[in-house]
Amino acid sequence: MTGRANVMPPLCFTLLLVSVVFTSFAEERAIYIVLMEGDPVALYGDGRRLDVNSEVFKAHAKRLVDSHDQLLQSALETGSYSKLYSFKHILNGFAVHTTPSQAQKLKEAPRVKLVERDRGAKLMTTYTPQFLGLPQGVWTQEGGDDHNAGEGIVIGFVDTGINPTHPSFAYDPLNPFTSNISHFLGACKTGPRFPASSCNGKIVSAKFFSAGAQAVATLNSTVDFLSPFDAVGHGSHVASIAAGNAGVPVVVNGFYYGRASGMAPRARIAIYKAVYPTVGTLTDVVSAIDQAVLDGVDILTLSVGPDEPPEDTATFLSTFDIAMLFARRAGIFVVQAAGNQGPAPSSVVSYSPWAVGVASSSTDRTYPGSVLLGNGTKIEGVGLSGPTFGYGLLLHKLVLAKDVLKASGSFPRTPPYVEECQYPEALDPNVVQGSVVICTFSEGFYNRTSTITAIINTAKVLGFMGFVLVANPNYGDFIAEPIPFGVSGIMVPNVTNVQVILQYYEQETCKEEKGFATRFAAKAAIGEGRVASFMGQAPVVSRLSSRGPDFINSSRIPCDVLKPDILAPGHQIWAAWSPISALEPTLTGYNFALLSGTSMATPHVAGIAALIKQYNPSWTPSMITSAISTTATKYDGDGEFIMAEGSDIGSSYPSTPFDFGAGFVSPSRAMDPGLVLSSGYEDYISFLCSLPEINPATTRNATGELCNNTLDHPANLNLPSVTLSALKGSQIVRRTFTNVGSKPETYLCSALSPNGTIVDLCPTWFRIAPQGSQELHIQVKVTQAMDGFTFGEIVLTGSLNHIVRIPLSVFPVSTSNT
Ligand SMILES: *[C@@H]1O[C@H](CO)[C@@H](O)[C@H](O)[C@H]1NC(C)=O
Ligand SMILES: *[C@@H]1O[C@H](CO)[C@@H](O)[C@H](O)[C@H]1NC(C)=O
Ligand SMILES: *[C@@H]1O[C@H](CO)[C@@H](O)[C@H](O)[C@H]1NC(C)=O
Ligand SMILES: *[C@@H]1O[C@H](CO)[C@@H](O)[C@H](O)[C@H]1NC(C)=O
Ligand SMILES: *[C@@H]1O[C@H](CO)[C@@H](O)[C@H](O)[C@H]1NC(C)=O
Ligand SMILES: *[C@@H]1O[C@H](CO)[C@@H](O)[C@H](O)[C@H]1NC(C)=O
Ligand SMILES: *[C@@H]1O[C@H](CO)[C@@H](O)[C@H](O)[C@H]1NC(C)=O
Ligand SMILES: *[C@@H]1O[C@H](CO)[C@@H](O)[C@H](O)[C@H]1NC(C)=O
Ligand SMILES: *[C@@H]1O[C@H](CO)[C@@H](O)[C@H](O)[C@H]1NC(C)=O
Repeated sequence: MTGRANVMPPLCFTLLLVSVVFTSFAEERAIYIVLMEGDPVALYGDGRRLDVNSEVFKAHAKRLVDSHDQLLQSALETGSYSKLYSFKHILNGFAVHTTPSQAQKLKEAPRVKLVERDRGAKLMTTYTPQFLGLPQGVWTQEGGDDHNAGEGIVIGFVDTGINPTHPSFAYDPLNPFTSNISHFLGACKTGPRFPASSCNGKIVSAKFFSAGAQAVATLNSTVDFLSPFDAVGHGSHVASIAAGNAGVPVVVNGFYYGRASGMAPRARIAIYKAVYPTVGTLTDVVSAIDQAVLDGVDILTLSVGPDEPPEDTATFLSTFDIAMLFARRAGIFVVQAAGNQGPAPSSVVSYSPWAVGVASSSTDRTYPGSVLLGNGTKIEGVGLSGPTFGYGLLLHKLVLAKDVLKASGSFPRTPPYVEECQYPEALDPNVVQGSVVICTFSEGFYNRTSTITAIINTAKVLGFMGFVLVANPNYGDFIAEPIPFGVSGIMVPNVTNVQVILQYYEQETCKEEKGFATRFAAKAAIGEGRVASFMGQAPVVSRLSSRGPDFINSSRIPCDVLKPDILAPGHQIWAAWSPISALEPTLTGYNFALLSGTSMATPHVAGIAALIKQYNPSWTPSMITSAISTTATKYDGDGEFIMAEGSDIGSSYPSTPFDFGAGFVSPSRAMDPGLVLSSGYEDYISFLCSLPEINPATTRNATGELCNNTLDHPANLNLPSVTLSALKGSQIVRRTFTNVGSKPETYLCSALSPNGTIVDLCPTWFRIAPQGSQELHIQVKVTQAMDGFTFGEIVLTGSLNHIVRIPLSVFPVSTSNT
């Protein structure tokens, strides 16, 4: 039986998040984000950031807000709407909760440029610094150890908030910050579980945005705190991966798992809470970005966002992407999750060349668990729990849950009750007490009504020695992620292994004619599951990580931009948690959690960008992006090509740029890339203006910019990758390199042509002075039409050992230009 990838619900909690559900009722209200003509405050005048306390700023902001209110009053019927926000810093517009017919009126109103329905925002879960080679490499360059890594940099997080009492975010008065962050203007908003002392010097600012959430749902005050406090855990997890303090001990259920450190442990944290346990809206996220830009964060981390493309605008021109464009214009490095909808092609939710989209990979750490059968066979499994009593000396009675039904009692004899161990009242307490009980991963888990928490509860109530959660052979393998169990337990997701356990059990169990078990002689013990092994092949692109190609609109027509951009660790990452754990009952009470997702990969890149920015303060976001991309590696820890997990469990294939972008991030090399390719705000506008699918008036409406310039081909945007989504005949693509090294260097240029093409470079070598720049012409010619994308690369090898690598992705459509 081939096991399809059945995602186990408890850990992939990102999938469980409630989103805004819009029913088909014609006049159901929804949130609409409206952009208007006229400059927002931050761009008023010369485009530089203005003093927020100046009279000019305040007066202009008031004019904008008044114009929003006047428009609403004149265009809509009173009582038919409520305005949630006026956006005025980086976007000029507002969010309004109203009906589709009123929204239609807004579309036709004067000076309205764009109306977009809010499609909701979702959350896209240590040892990772060692795996990336940080402590010896980069941290040493930064001043000897983790003492200074990230000093002076403020990382902003738009997420579920933060748990301010967590040791990862503690301020150490014995080790005060020495850097000056006067460029940052944060503030601390207090509220439930978030007193003023929460902004402690490590956390330098904390705000929350809830008008969207409050418009579409009734918030539950026991979990949806109107304060920056994180009741979910996701925001704390993400913040600690990027900027958590160094060397924080990870202790769960009394077991010490090692120490956790953020990538940039001395960076400062600014919190923008925009997603609540009950709901997340794009409106609150956009409002949070608007504020973060105004406050002046250096880096913006978005492990949240819509998980589907906009309905009727281009992907690049949704309000979310426009907000990121203006953040980039303000000099902010913007990093976002590529999405968790892999491995299907075109499943990325990161589209635009001005934000870095991060894919997720495994690390080489695994937690091998095992169950030992009475006949000496050991079966492997997954589960972060201690061994059964007397492991190595003692075996315990092994029983199958459906064989130990309580004789009397009125309960439904359905799988969740019986074989899935969801309800203690179904099982015979005398038999299961002190036994290892086999529970089955059946229908209830597939339709998400059964949980591991319920099994653990049953085990505790009835005094199991331990439990073994096995795959149901009728359904195939399932995906098991390590979860800390408070009782001994293990998951055996592999049907081949399950069959050995069940066969052994049946051989040792006597049954009478009707099939009722009369004597149990099978025995088993569960081994230690909490001790890590560092033997795994890694990195491997995670199955759930969203894949390219990038596309132009919801019709998924590929475009000439590479997504995802980069691969970083996002599988089974230990980081800070919030004990309330409002969305994940299996993790309630814990201060740390082991989670997976592109949400976890994203802050790794945010932290690394902070280190690069600290080391090279004058670098622009695109220079940092280029440094991270051109130095990434395509090889894993064993020197083999990085593999990507496919849709069948256990299947994998060699990664392409659509799985891992430029490759796996290599922070120490990114500090000193030799050459960089840079691009700026005007270039992004020219890029948008050169897309045949987007009308210049639409670009003007979304960005406020005229199409003064166009690129002669969209692929000429100076990105650290080359993508040609429909190549007919031949095309010359240009790239410009700048030497950021301190010495002149000679580079040799070489190309590995994608199948079906031949790539010629001009020049084939060049010498470049410090700060000098050099143009490279890349001619790609189709030699044979192919039925999909093919891949190659350009490599510039420097005489001082810099290697600059640029991935090439080409769809050779025909050999002629027509
Ligand atoms: C751009 O906005 C104007 C109003 O400012 C509107 O009349 C026009 O239809 C919009 N154009 C596009 C292409 O969306
Ligand atoms: C911080 O740096 C800014 C500009 O570099 C300077 O004007 C300011 O005085 C400094 N503040 C402190 C407290 O050193
Ligand atoms: C609010 O959340 C708490 C904790 O999750 C839950 O017990 C309660 O039922 C919720 N209340 C409502 C009205 O949903
Ligand atoms: C889920 O499966 C269980 C077990 O078959 C069944 O009792 C329950 O009704 C199902 N729930 C849903 C929502 O399909
Ligand atoms: C234990 O029993 C299982 C099931 O019959 C069998 O596959 C396995 O080989 C046995 N182990 C030993 C060591 O005999
Ligand atoms: C399941 O286990 C068997 C035997 O241990 C192994 O050959 C097989 O590769 C495993 N399947 C997966 C998907 O790991
Ligand atoms: C386009 O030209 C106008 C008028 O010269 C100028 O104000 C604007 O900044 C230019 N826009 C871009 C993106 O170059
Ligand atoms: C996407 O763009 C293409 C090309 O401009 C157009 O034909 C198609 O209708 C668009 N799809 C949507 C859903 O807007
Ligand atoms: C390119 O073509 C060769 C020979 O036909 C084939 O072995 C190889 O797998 C192809 N590579 C890609 C990336 O398609």
